[in-house]
Amino acid sequence: METLGYYNGIIGPLEELRIPMNDRACWFGDGVYDVSICAQYTIFALDEHIDRFFNSAALLYMTPRISKPELAELLNTLVRKLDSPTQFVYWQLTRGTAPRIHTFPEHTAPNLWVTLKPFTLPDIYGKIKLITVEDTRFFHCNIKTLNLLPNVLASEKAKQAGCAEAVFHRGNRVTECSHSNVYILKDGILRTAPLDNLILPGISRAHIIVQCGKLGIPVDETPFTMEELFAADEIMISSTSSFCMSASHLDGYQVGGKAPELLRQIQDALWTEFHQVTGSAL
Ligand code: PDD
Repeated sequence: METLGYYNGIIGPLEELRIPMNDRACWFGDGVYDVSICAQYTIFALDEHIDRFFNSAALLYMTPRISKPELAELLNTLVRKLDSPTQFVYWQLTRGTAPRIHTFPEHTAPNLWVTLKPFTLPDIYGKIKLITVEDTRFFHCNIKTLNLLPNVLASEKAKQAGCAEAVFHRGNRVTECSHSNVYILKDGILRTAPLDNLILPGISRAHIIVQCGKLGIPVDETPFTMEELFAADEIMISSTSSFCMSASHLDGYQVGGKAPELLRQIQDALWTEFHQVTGSAL
C-alpha cells in the first residue's frame, strides 16, 4: 500500500476511506491528534507521543477505547503495511459520531483515526526563511468557523451546571455566549458588545438592533463589564435557534427581572417579524 487510512478498525488506501458526516471532527474540530515519523518502520519516540495523545484526550474528557500498549501495537502493525519504510504517522481521536449539538453527545464513543503516508526526511542542515505573525489563535470569534472547541467546552460546562448557556468574558469584559450573543437592558438602554473580532456578528443581533430602532429603544454597542452584567435590569441572549431569551439566574445568583415590559417589547418585535416573514402562525 502507498498510503493507509484507518477508521475504527476499517483499513484502506487513504484516498478511498470515508468518515461519517456526523463525526464530531466535522462539526466542531472536537478531537485531539498526535503525529510522529517512522523510519525503517520504527516510529520515533512513540511512547512519548502516545502519552501526550492520551493526556490531550483526557484534557478534553475523552477516553480512547484502546489502551496505550494497544495503540502502540496498532500503529506498529499499520506502518508495516506501507511500501515506504519512512512515513508520516498521524493518529487522532474525535469525541464520537452524533447529530450536531454543542454539548457532549450522550450515546457515542470516541472514534480513532490513523493516516499513514510516505515521508521524505528533511535536509536539517539547510537554511530556511521565517516570518513573524501576531499570535491571534482564539481571537477569530467574528468568523463562523468550524473550530468551536472552546464553545463546546463552555456549552458542556453550562449543561453540567443545569444552565442553557455560558456567557464568555475576557477579564472583566463581557463578549458573547458559547452559541449566542448577549445583551443587557439597563435604564431603558439595550447594551451589547461591539462588532469586533471577539464576537460573532449574529444575524439575530442585527435584527434585534433594527427592531429596537423601530421601537425607539436606544442601543449602546460599547463593551460592558461583569459588574454591569450582574446589575442589569434584564439579561438577554439571542441566536438563530433560541431567538431572544432572557435569564433569571447567572452563576446561581438571581438576575434581571427589573424591566419585563421593555424586554417583552423586544421579544415581541423579533417574534412577530419571524412569524410575518415565514408566514407561520403567531
Ligand atoms: N450559533 N455567537 C456564537 C458563538 C454563535 O455560535 C451564534 C450562533 C451566535 C448568534 O448568531 P446568529 O444570531 O446568527 O444565530 C453568536 C448557532 C445558532 C449555532 O452554532 O448553532
